[in-house]
Amino acid sequence: MTHDNGISNKSKNRPFQDVLQTRISRRNLLARSIVLSAAGFVTVVAGNQVQQAVAGTGGYYKPWFRRRRRPWRRRRLLGFKPVKVAEGSGSIPNISPNYEYQVLIPWGTPIQPGGPEYDGDPNTRPTADQQAQQVGIGHDGMWFFPIRGNRHGMLAINHEFGRNSHVLGKETPESHEDVLLSQHAHGVSVVEIRKRFNGRWKVVRSRRARRIHVNTPVAFSGPAANHPLLQTPAGNKPLGTVNNCSNGHTPWGTYLTCEENFNGYFGATGEWKATEAQERYGFSETGFNYGWEKFDPRFDLSNKNYQNEENRFGWVVEIDPMNAYQTPVKRTALGRFKHEGVGLTVGRGGRVVCYMGDDQRFDYIYKFVSADNWKRMLAQGISPLDEGKLYVAKFNDDGTGEWLELTIENPDLAAKFKDQGEVLTYARLAADILGATPMDRPEWTTIAPNEYVYCSLTNNSRREQTDAANPLAPNPDGHIIRWRDTNRHVGTTFTWDIFVIAQDTHGTEESFSDPDGLWADPYGRLFIQTDGGQKDGLNNQMLVANTRTGEIRRLFTGVTDDEITGLTVTPDQRTMFINTQHPGNGDPTLTNFPAPQGSGKVPRDCTFVITHRRGRIIGS
Ligand code: FEO
Ligand code: CA
Ligand code: CA
Repeated sequence: MTHDNGISNKSKNRPFQDVLQTRISRRNLLARSIVLSAAGFVTVVAGNQVQQAVAGTGGYYKPWFRRRRRPWRRRRLLGFKPVKVAEGSGSIPNISPNYEYQVLIPWGTPIQPGGPEYDGDPNTRPTADQQAQQVGIGHDGMWFFPIRGNRHGMLAINHEFGRNSHVLGKETPESHEDVLLSQHAHGVSVVEIRKRFNGRWKVVRSRRARRIHVNTPVAFSGPAANHPLLQTPAGNKPLGTVNNCSNGHTPWGTYLTCEENFNGYFGATGEWKATEAQERYGFSETGFNYGWEKFDPRFDLSNKNYQNEENRFGWVVEIDPMNAYQTPVKRTALGRFKHEGVGLTVGRGGRVVCYMGDDQRFDYIYKFVSADNWKRMLAQGISPLDEGKLYVAKFNDDGTGEWLELTIENPDLAAKFKDQGEVLTYARLAADILGATPMDRPEWTTIAPNEYVYCSLTNNSRREQTDAANPLAPNPDGHIIRWRDTNRHVGTTFTWDIFVIAQDTHGTEESFSDPDGLWADPYGRLFIQTDGGQKDGLNNQMLVANTRTGEIRRLFTGVTDDEITGLTVTPDQRTMFINTQHPGNGDPTLTNFPAPQGSGKVPRDCTFVITHRRGRIIGS
């Protein structure tokens, strides 16, 4: 979506460095790190040249069933025929000839079979009440939670965004009912899905299924839970989640949904002047012109009764996909910013480690480390996401980096903030003071089994000064950076390099721009999804990279003016789910997908179920 590319970071954390000099010193460092790291592999992309250095096997897990059958080194990671550049456009999706797809849960699908349905008729819209019983719009991050192996499970899916013209059929809401319809189209859907004997998936009746939207009761937990900054004079109970972008999932079986561009849903109907914190988080009198503030005082920044309501958004929210009665919990220990997603892993000592991007031009990358072993914490009745340390990343030009802790025990932060709750609520301001590195819009993070963390930096057309981690000024097409922490994810230092620069692929069959969704599979593949103007006539797309060789192949292209985002797999990795978001930007004259072209139907966000025609692991 297009609302995450402003600038609200006015701090001076922009080290200027001569690009050539930094690149030269980076290469020297990389050469050293290859020698020092027997388990490491490093691919440096410079210009159109890919220099590859391989030491050992990269340290990936070798799943037992593969290890016994044949040596992993001989396996072809990318065996499929790619979608060619010339084939990757138009009003319907294109997929590799070795694969097929099925459309699942378009916007308006009833959460429970037999419920109210919206089919894209441009002359009618769901009522707000009907929308609260249906799959929302703006399909984004999601995760599959198995109930019976690879055939049956819960799919939790984010609904990031639905422009008024797409949801309401008009630019401006004219009533509270209009605002409620928009609000009910946002949030999260949890649906129960099952694979039938003909191989097709369908939504089934479920006691676990539910819709969570902008008016669903939520709870706060962690250091800022009861902080005055999260209380309003009206005393209204906390409700809802919004702009749910990417996601994470925990080892204890819960879903994490991330609130990204929450600022855009607030506006001011009366006199209002932004505070320093409101300015830093990008609040304005009109927001994204949703107009919610005109009919819902919670979203009116000038309504003194609802002062601080805006601080209740911008968090990571934990949802139990198996229990429809659980109250979603906002985990304040993970900080408040424009959360793109959570790349979660278990680090040394069984600690949970969360890598998180704050998607705005010149904003930061964060890491949370739980206080103790996650199983021990849960046994003591403590959420591993409630106690721990939050860090922000500083990328040094020599290929090293530091995780800087956001703690009130730091005198520089204690001079500005009263307590840890305030540090977390205003995490961006705290990170400014610590001297974090402003990045080119950090989107998804994903963790490969060899401990490399990959992060997409989608673009930054406003960058004027480069540093080694953000080496292009401007950077219209983005890049993917990766790092490896010391001490198995829990250390406070790391080494990093750039995996690929998108513009270097243009004019080739590997062409892509604006990397966004990422997923590293257990074998060394990196799935890359895009959101932005693709070059070479392409629609947005999903590609697969071989992280050992740097080779990239295109598996899927979406429909005109959509975004490809969201990714999850069944445990056997032979079924993958991905999404198209805002196909045709909601304009039925551009595409009617998933309805037949020419039907006149409003295009609808939906999920694609992707399988290999011979049942192989996705990406093979
Ligand atoms: Fe919601 Fe930054 O993508
Ligand atoms: Ca995104
Ligand atoms: Ca994006």
